[in-house]
Amino acid sequence: LNNGLARTPQMGWNSWNFFACNINETVIKETADALISTGLAELGYVYVNIDDCWSSTTRDLKGHLVPDPKAFPSGIKALADYVHEKGLKLGIYSDAGAFTCEVRPGSLFHEKDDAEHFASWGVDYLKYDNCFNLGIKPEERYPPMRDALNTTGHTIFYSLCEWGVDDPALWADKVGNSWRTTDDINDSWASMTTIADLNDKWASYAGPGGWNDPDMLEVGNGGMTYQEYRAHFSIWALMKAPLLIGCDVRNMTAETIEIITNKEVIAVNQDPLGIQGRKVYSTGTDGCLQVWAGPLSGHRIVVALWNRCSKAATITAGWDALGLESSTSVSVRDLWQHKDIAGNAVASFGARVDAHDCQIFIFTPHSVDHSEI
Ligand code: DGJ
Repeated sequence: LNNGLARTPQMGWNSWNFFACNINETVIKETADALISTGLAELGYVYVNIDDCWSSTTRDLKGHLVPDPKAFPSGIKALADYVHEKGLKLGIYSDAGAFTCEVRPGSLFHEKDDAEHFASWGVDYLKYDNCFNLGIKPEERYPPMRDALNTTGHTIFYSLCEWGVDDPALWADKVGNSWRTTDDINDSWASMTTIADLNDKWASYAGPGGWNDPDMLEVGNGGMTYQEYRAHFSIWALMKAPLLIGCDVRNMTAETIEIITNKEVIAVNQDPLGIQGRKVYSTGTDGCLQVWAGPLSGHRIVVALWNRCSKAATITAGWDALGLESSTSVSVRDLWQHKDIAGNAVASFGARVDAHDCQIFIFTPHSVDHSEI
């Protein structure tokens, strides 16, 4: 969507994956505080996004949305002021249907009034869900909210959450700043890998202004190993996915912090070229030894070696899969070790990768190749 936002994928935090409906204004404020104190905000995680369950179960007598008085007694405007004072941005949630998934009032046919309220509260971001949609196509239900947000005079990030219904990559770039390509993620290896593959299909449709959204991060929620979370974060970064943290940032292990604060991996995600990397090669049983790659600015290439098999193995990226001439020599930097590990790789590059782990590298060619991917 051409509203000046999302020149790179959005970064921040969202309440759903960890808290679901157990949210209140204290949790949101403490999260904002933690984003600052952990240094996450400085790394670019600036959106503090409230998901479902912030609203009362009914509209007020004038038909306006109102925050749940028990959970958000000070109102959303006070929360927006609080996060703005810290240099952060506030996101809110509604639904392109009669109700949200947790059966709070939806915004379908209330777009104008609700958008005006969000804007008057100082909201910077809207995630717009797909429950109770009355069987109307998303292509029809999502544009009215875009137009309503646009006429508020405030620039509001518009995140479509249509769960991949009707292949949004084909129509949503004129509607939203990001669109979901799949159903909900859950905190498991099976879900994460399945979603990565589904999102990969739409790689060519992503770019500055509009991104494929394979759903929010599960890093730090406990259902995957350190290696699996590292792979999750590496591949989401390479796919130019929104980096929306989904754990309790007030309470993170050192491993979780190490993963989500990796500056070099974040820089891959935020690269100004904005081209979604993709799976370029796979081999092994069911293709479980994989190479994912994509172009970065400055003629560099990001390359991930992802072992989805159950045993450690060597994975080799051949220059043909990366679109490099076989004679091109590259220097290789390892983004998890934070080390330059090869000065002059030619024709192929391989590394031993643990089961379910993912190593991620930047290749910098010594002379520019004419047939880059
Ligand atoms: C479905 C969405 O896909 C989730 O991300 C979350 O917003 C829930 N609905 C909330 O009800």
